[in-house]
This record gives sequence, structure tokens and C-alpha cells, in this order.
Amino acid sequence: MAIPSFQIATIKGDGIGIDVTDATIAVIDAAQNRVGGFSLDYRQILAGAGYYRETGLDIEENGEEMAGAADAIFLGAIGLPSVRYEDGTEISPHLRLRDRFQLYAGIRPIKAYPNIPRKLSDERAAAIDMIILRESTEGLFYSAAAHNRCPVENDDEVQDTLRITRKTTEKLHDFAFNMARKRKEKGSRGLVTCVDKANVFKSMAFFRKIFDERSQAFPDIEKGYNYVDAQALDLIRKPWDFDILVMENMFGDILSDLAGGLVGGMGMAACGEIGDHHGLFQPAHGTAPDIMGQDKANPLAAILSGSLMLEYLADKTGVQALSDAAEIISDAIHSGFSQNTIRPAELGGDMGTRAVTQEIIRLIHS
Ligand code: IPM
Ligand code: MG
Repeated sequence: MAIPSFQIATIKGDGIGIDVTDATIAVIDAAQNRVGGFSLDYRQILAGAGYYRETGLDIEENGEEMAGAADAIFLGAIGLPSVRYEDGTEISPHLRLRDRFQLYAGIRPIKAYPNIPRKLSDERAAAIDMIILRESTEGLFYSAAAHNRCPVENDDEVQDTLRITRKTTEKLHDFAFNMARKRKEKGSRGLVTCVDKANVFKSMAFFRKIFDERSQAFPDIEKGYNYVDAQALDLIRKPWDFDILVMENMFGDILSDLAGGLVGGMGMAACGEIGDHHGLFQPAHGTAPDIMGQDKANPLAAILSGSLMLEYLADKTGVQALSDAAEIISDAIHSGFSQNTIRPAELGGDMGTRAVTQEIIRLIHS
């Protein structure tokens, strides 16, 4: 029988996006060699701020179609503060991909690994293990995703729109509850917290109403509520109490950085953006132009996103080898931290991008 092969559309992007994508591909290759049973075919798509500066396009012609035709999309990071569209915002074709492929479920795992210097002194911080589920197509990003949706835009006033639709919100909450079930089987608490601002905004009361409606189908899952400002406080005060936090796009953008800081930094912040038919995987960090090309970037956020991508492909296709490869990668990272052989510079350690990558590959083969 022929080995199943999958196409990965790869957008390296700008700055450290390039380094961490290369690191991820090397690690996935190692896992694939170890497990066998599938192959991946990477197709590069040119996009980003550097590409825009050279060509006037933020993604190559037909790039979005090529991304859509692949089995999954992997993205490094895009954007350079010095390169902007005429409206003053940074180059972000990625937002259009989220919109075009309706990648509503933005999964951002926040997990404390052993031996990482902790920002919180409380012992319980060692047990942080939660998911920020960031709606990723509408909310306050609705008018940002496609650059012609601003209801008012002149030189006296600019408005952005926060849009919450029933259709997307139902899918989002279902996704949250289903994920809570899956995690509960593996020992998590089985709790979904709706993070909103339903005390003030009608759109947020609507978001919460749909949360309550959808929760009916999941009596085995606990539910909770938190206003977003209180949630920011609780992420510092008792982050170990949460399991899945489901929220609007902009809230998720902000809180996922905060939460990333609790477990080391943005170099640990993985992300998978999933829709009904497509999945895009990217580290949640930016391009860090200040350290690009210096072998300083922590590749783990990207590598963990790569592992999420393999899991997604396994779910989508039923090919068990993909899931095995995902597990081998996350196990390698876990044991590297436990044995203190993974010490990224970002976390005060002595290892650059290449050394961390090589160590993970060594662990995969050992
Ligand atoms: C993220 C990033 C992006 C976002 C930027 C780079 C467009 O901050 O993935 O969190 O705002 O969504
Ligand atoms: Mg962000």
C-alpha cells in the first residue's frame, strides 16, 4: 500500500518566522523518519512584509488558493514594524487567511514545563495547563481582516466593528466543549470558562447566551464565567484553576500573550487555527526583528504548533502514524525539559535556535 502523503503549504514570512519554520520542518522530518507511515510535501508560499516591500503584494499571486488547496498550512511569522499598508497598519495577509478559510477556532495551549524559570512564585504554577480558545475570524478583528470593512473612516474619525454572529459562535462554543471532553478523558478538569464583557456589551451578552445554549448538550462538562478584566487578574492570581477559556478574538489576542508570559514567554506560545475544512498552524509570537538571524529565537512555539498540525491531520484523515509523530514530538519536548537538556536562551538558558532543535531531534531518535 502506498504511504499516505499530505501537502503542507508553508509560509515562512519575516524575521524569526524563517528560522522557526526551518526548525519545525527539521523536527517533523525526524519524527516522520522515526514513525514512518506518512510523508509530507512542503510547498512554499511567498508572503510577508519583506515580500510586500519588494513586490507591492503581501502574498504571492494565487498564494491564498494554494494555501487553501493544501491539507494544512504552516506559517512562521509575518510583519515588520517598518513596512506598512497605506492605512498605517502592518502587513498581515494572515488575517485574510483566517477570514477566507473561516478559521474560527484559535487554539492557544498554555502549559508549564518542568525546569522553566517561573514568573509566579506560587508552587501551583507548575501545574498550569490550559487552552485559550480565541475566536479568530470576527469579534473586533472583523473590520481588520479585510481592509475595507470600516463603517466610518475619514480624517476626523475611524471606527472598527466588533461583530459576533450566531453561526460562528455556536461552532466556537461546541468546539470548546468538545475539546474539554477530549481533555477530560486524559485527566483534565473538564471545565469551559466563557470570558466576555457581558456586563456592558450586547454583543458579549449574546456571546454568553449562545454559550449557555450550547452547553446544554454537554452536561458532563463544567461551565464557568468570567469578565475579561477579572480574567486578566485571575490569570495572575490562580491560572492553575482553569482548563479551557473561550473568548472573542481581541480578548484572546491579548490574554494569550499574558498567559504565554506565565509559562516562559512567547517562545512557548503555540497556536492552531482551525475551521470546518482548513487548519493553519503558527507560533503566536511575532517576527522579533531585533533578534532575527542571530540564532536566538526559541523555536518551541513553532515546533509545538507543528505537533498540533500533525494531530489535526491525524483527526482529519484517520492516519494513526500522524498522531504518533505528534506525540513523539511533545514527549521529546517534555523529557528535554525534565532532564534539563532543553535550555532555550529566551528562558535564560544557554541554547540558541539550532541547539534546541538539534536536542529535540536527538531526543526523538533516542
Ligand atoms: C497573533 C498575532 C496576530 C494577531 C498579528 C501578527 C496580526 O498577534 O497571532 O496573536 O493579532 O492575531
Ligand atoms: Mg497576538
